[in-house]
Amino acid sequence: MCGIVAYLGDKQAYPILINGLRRLEYRGYDSAGVALLDGDVLTIHKCQGKVSDLEAHVDGRSHAGTVGIGHTRWATHGPPNDINAHPHQSTSGDLALIHNGIIENYAPIKEELLTRGHVFRSDTDTEVLVHLIDDIQRTEGVDLAEAVRLALESVVGAYAIVVLDRKDPDVMVAARKSSPLVIGIGDNGEHFVASDATPIVEHTKNVVYLEDGEIAVIDRRQGLKIRNIKNQVKTPFIQELEMHLEALEKGGYDHFMLKEIHEQPRSIRDSMRGRLNLAKGEVVLGGIKDYEQKFVQAKRILIVGCGTSWHAGLVGEYLFEELARIPVEVEYASEFRYRNPIINEDDIVIAISQSGETADTMAAIELAKGRGATIIGICNVVGSSIARVTHAGSYTHAGPEIGVASTKAFTAQVTVLTLMALMIGQKRGTISGSKFHRLLNELDVIPGKVEAVLRNEAQIKYIADIYKDATNALYLGRGFSFPVALEGALKLKEISYIHAEGYPAAEMKHGPIALIDEEMPVFVIATKGASYEKVVSNIQEVKARKGKVIAIVTEGDSVVKGLADHVIPIPETPDPFVPLLSVIPFLLISYHIAVMRGCNVDQPRNLAKSVTVE
Ligand code: G6P
Repeated sequence: MCGIVAYLGDKQAYPILINGLRRLEYRGYDSAGVALLDGDVLTIHKCQGKVSDLEAHVDGRSHAGTVGIGHTRWATHGPPNDINAHPHQSTSGDLALIHNGIIENYAPIKEELLTRGHVFRSDTDTEVLVHLIDDIQRTEGVDLAEAVRLALESVVGAYAIVVLDRKDPDVMVAARKSSPLVIGIGDNGEHFVASDATPIVEHTKNVVYLEDGEIAVIDRRQGLKIRNIKNQVKTPFIQELEMHLEALEKGGYDHFMLKEIHEQPRSIRDSMRGRLNLAKGEVVLGGIKDYEQKFVQAKRILIVGCGTSWHAGLVGEYLFEELARIPVEVEYASEFRYRNPIINEDDIVIAISQSGETADTMAAIELAKGRGATIIGICNVVGSSIARVTHAGSYTHAGPEIGVASTKAFTAQVTVLTLMALMIGQKRGTISGSKFHRLLNELDVIPGKVEAVLRNEAQIKYIADIYKDATNALYLGRGFSFPVALEGALKLKEISYIHAEGYPAAEMKHGPIALIDEEMPVFVIATKGASYEKVVSNIQEVKARKGKVIAIVTEGDSVVKGLADHVIPIPETPDPFVPLLSVIPFLLISYHIAVMRGCNVDQPRNLAKSVTVE
């Protein structure tokens, strides 16, 4: 949700910023802009649209400077237009600022600043910051860093900001609260600042993750200095990035989404690596070792997340209840945080987040932590805010997910939840030894089975072509497959803009059945297992009303084949592992329908990957 990138060094900043903005574009693509300092000349270019629009806009205009900031926006306050694009500039023209987050008390600050002669040009909440910093600089006679610190003392909300001052062109000031910021330290005094490490990794592997409430001053003469908002000096903790550049490229695929769908055999395998030990017959999750006993003794598990991560959490509910016999409640983080939820000290709260930055999930964690619960994180982005605030956790190791619609992150989250449920179930004695070993062996071969499903892509594409003009779709599943039905529907909505609903198959007759006619595609997960016969009956109910049925079935199934319009076979696997296979055809169907409809698959309209506002 808004991407920030900044550079100070001995190279030209503009190409570095543009490249960085391209990497961060998944965070928002309503507008883009840069501010460059060439000596004391400050140049700002910004416009509505994507980074490519910004490049076209800048083409032929001056863009020199070895210091610069860049921004790609996901609009919150004010429409996506040229004026509301960042960077924003102070009335004097001296300061330029970029921001990710929301300033909640911007209205009273703006009122006060207006009376003091500041001229506002945009509708954004952000603009108050640049005027406020400028005002403090002038009235208090302090330097940029101190003015930023004083300004942030009176601000309520979430922010990651970077500010430049034409009067002091060798300095760049960055600060964060609730929104992420990473600083890269390169050679020859080069420094980078970004919302995440993706724009930095091609320049340096040495990074410092700024903590909440910290202000970084990057000075060409003195290097990086960090202090907090209370003016206490902090020692920068330099870490080495494990990210590889190839993971951020499309690698020959047309879209990141397609690449990420095809990466799943690898990403699931990586999420199990070193954790599932067939030889010893055990699951080891090193990241939660210290909390294992609490987990084993937990009376209740709460799972919080948003979007696709919430769907993975719902699979987690079925897994923990089935395998570990612990009651589970799955909560939308946004609802949980604004209720007065009952949280006990012996509750385990599992927070799931691909980005590790989702504002609502973060707030839900803080609430639960404050009430004494143990928080276990399942995050994909290493070093992310959620990964750092949780007591313990297990990373998903899916690798960077760039496509805005989540794909491989979901299966990696479900893989980690499966490992957790198996491990806790074994330790609680709720799974027999023989069943445990059988399940471990089955889980171990899942990546190969995912590969087998991916080999059906041509058939799935053929089905996509038939239904690409649908205006509505239903997704049905029962038990472990119900969350997958929700995820399938979400994927279709997100990237192809077709209205779709996911339902428990049996609930169809309580409403959605009224929608079924010969125009309505109904995607059903009808694999062999506990609720197979019941789902077959549901398919018959759809066919009796002339709906079109596309069923995901177990290889070799002939019953559903005789009923459905199309079947997509997946290899046989125990019920708890079906989601890891049955979601794959849904991802491919949505992808191909979206491409056939001419949609921007990697950057669907109005969405952003990392939602750092409420
Ligand atoms: C956004 C993304 C979704 C994602 C959700 C939660 O809506 O577009 O793909 O599932 O946020 O994000 P998280 O990073 O917390 O998993």
